[in-house]
Amino acid sequence: MKRYFSSVLLFYGILASGCAHFLWFFDMLTQSDLLTKKGVYIQQMFGSIAKVYDLLNTVLSFNFDKSWRKFAVKVSNAAPDAKVLDVCTGTGDLAIAYSRVLNSSGRVIGSDFCHEMLRLADFKLKKRMLLDKIRVIEADTLHLPFQNNYFQISAVAFGIRNVADLRAGIAEMVRITAPGGCVVILEFSQPINPVFKAVYYFYFKKMLPLIGKLISRSKYHAYSYLPSSVLNFPDRYGLRAQMESCGLEDVKIYAKTLGIVTVHVGRKPRN
Ligand SMILES: C[S@@+](CC[C@H](N)C(=O)[O-])C[C@H]1O[C@@H](n2cnc3c(N)ncnc32)[C@H](O)[C@@H]1O
Repeated sequence: MKRYFSSVLLFYGILASGCAHFLWFFDMLTQSDLLTKKGVYIQQMFGSIAKVYDLLNTVLSFNFDKSWRKFAVKVSNAAPDAKVLDVCTGTGDLAIAYSRVLNSSGRVIGSDFCHEMLRLADFKLKKRMLLDKIRVIEADTLHLPFQNNYFQISAVAFGIRNVADLRAGIAEMVRITAPGGCVVILEFSQPINPVFKAVYYFYFKKMLPLIGKLISRSKYHAYSYLPSSVLNFPDRYGLRAQMESCGLEDVKIYAKTLGIVTVHVGRKPRN
């Protein structure tokens, strides 16, 4: 009798996991169907530079990128057992930075719609034995497969600028954040000092695309897209206004490295 029940349980277990996988696959199909033209282009562009993405981040930011992510984590004030979502996670560096401040009950999910980037993230997590704390999933930031109010923190580093509809992307991050939780955005910005701005823009507009092209050999001109996307992105006050229009309050702005990047932290109201 006992054996009979175990076999029945096993059978239904396998059936349920099969269905879950099918539904997941179905979800992915509908997700990719929902991508706009810009979304598809961005997805392919990041796919084309995935292998050199980390190297170029280090080279082009003079290794500052790590300290920027660390700072974003610091100002998020994550509770040690928080559930954190890192959207547009790429190769997972912000997710990893969050995992460092969490205890064994805390969890991080990294989501991205670029398969090649996520494969590298997964490889990194395995190598650093972080799979018990961080998981990555393939998902469009404009259609996150999570219920409302699920995470205490939703964060993004250098990703929201690429999302086809900025306001809708922020609104989706707000939706899955719990009341009282926060939305954190680390993004490139415009330097404040005019002299530094001139020197920086020469580097950012002229040299960075060249170095990026030489190393990545991407046919999508990913490293020319970078400065143009930053220059067409709202300034720090414009971004704060977008966050507020999505229902966030008490939005704080932290400028780092002479204003090259900013971290915005906004709170979702409790009621
Ligand atoms: C510049 S990378 C940033 C990666 C990582 N967050 C970091 O700190 O280095 C931008 C990432 O955003 C992802 N992305 C852009 N639009 C997206 C969208 N609508 N949904 C999901 N991921 C998106 C790209 O695939 C890419 O991996």
